[in-house]
Amino acid sequence: MFDNLAMLVQKNVALQAFNTFHIMARAHALARISEASDVLALLADPEWAAQPKLVLGGGSNIVLTGDVKPLVLKVEIKGRQQVAETAKAIIVEAGAGENWHDFVAWTLAQGWPGLENMALIPGTVGAAPVQNIGAYGVELQDRFDSLDAMDLQSGQTFTLNAAQCAFGYRDSIFKHSSSPNQDRGYRPIGLKDRALILRVRFALPKPWKPVLGYADLERKMQETGCNQPSAQQVADWICDIRRAKLPDPAVMGNAGSFFKNPTVTPEQCSDIIGRDPKVVFYPLPDGSFKLAAGWLIDACGWRGKTVGMAGVYEKQALVLVNRGSVDGPDAATGGEVMTLARAIQTSVYERFGILLEPEPVVV
Ligand code: EPU
Repeated sequence: MFDNLAMLVQKNVALQAFNTFHIMARAHALARISEASDVLALLADPEWAAQPKLVLGGGSNIVLTGDVKPLVLKVEIKGRQQVAETAKAIIVEAGAGENWHDFVAWTLAQGWPGLENMALIPGTVGAAPVQNIGAYGVELQDRFDSLDAMDLQSGQTFTLNAAQCAFGYRDSIFKHSSSPNQDRGYRPIGLKDRALILRVRFALPKPWKPVLGYADLERKMQETGCNQPSAQQVADWICDIRRAKLPDPAVMGNAGSFFKNPTVTPEQCSDIIGRDPKVVFYPLPDGSFKLAAGWLIDACGWRGKTVGMAGVYEKQALVLVNRGSVDGPDAATGGEVMTLARAIQTSVYERFGILLEPEPVVV
């Protein structure tokens, strides 16, 4: 057992290559998890079992503000397969450590459409449900079937359906901590740092219908004159659109959108329209409105600005970037990124009365 653990756990590991912001930080200890039994081996060891743990997927939605003291569990569980086919859907399963875009490309190559609008989102399959990734009119929860996860205290494996994952906009049960001391008449149950996602299953709907309502996709249809694209065609358009406005994390470190698009009441929305008629907003089914955070940040003059080595991307003000190296010591620090983020929050709050909420997990 001791020898196995010595091979599983590395000490003092550089994390710059393991987070897409490419922030320099170290893990006191890191275990590469290739199968569920690796976690069980750690839990069987009293020292590691008692350690707080941080689950790391592709590192595409995390800001490291210093060295990481909890034991980092780097999820590298592989495998992808069709597990069932019903009248309404093809059910496909992937290991949590599979690269998300490679998985999407593989499903399309098999002739199973459904995930094409989420092509090229950085990260892993296991991280996708944590923040309910979404793009161009489709969210993970629209294609989700179920997932298997392991309880990091008991080592028990359990399965959750969509309702049990409590998906919301860039949100799920995996982003929330349990707070048993909160006395609000209910006891919120969260799985943050308590569960490790092992495998995820997707329901790819039959028959397939493209989702083309997003303005950028309508533009592609007009440009190409193609009104009935194949799923592969949609995926290619999505890749073009993303490459045109989002930085490639391999070249310029970033964690995608840094803030969530805020939801406001109709009164707040009309107040802002009164002051800034150009504000970008979308009505939601419940009568509230979602505002484009990128527009709010842009309107405050932040696009292209820099604090230390952290900056606001020139082509999309919602994306904060590392202007330094992706593999060297002059990278932005987590502190610089958060200083910039707070300055943006303050100026958006002062001008619009809206507090932007960060999307990535800050560690
Ligand atoms: N805008 C500006 N200036 C900017 C940036 C945006 O005026 O600097 C305006 C745009 O002109 C557009 C509007 O804001 O009218 C919305 O911009 P965009 O279409 O780029 O989408 P977004 O709301 O900024 C969201 C997701 C993205 C996802 C796209 C497409 C969030 C937080 N972000 O961005 O997801 O790719 O829609 O569906 O919901 C991510 O979560 O990491 C991510 C990249």
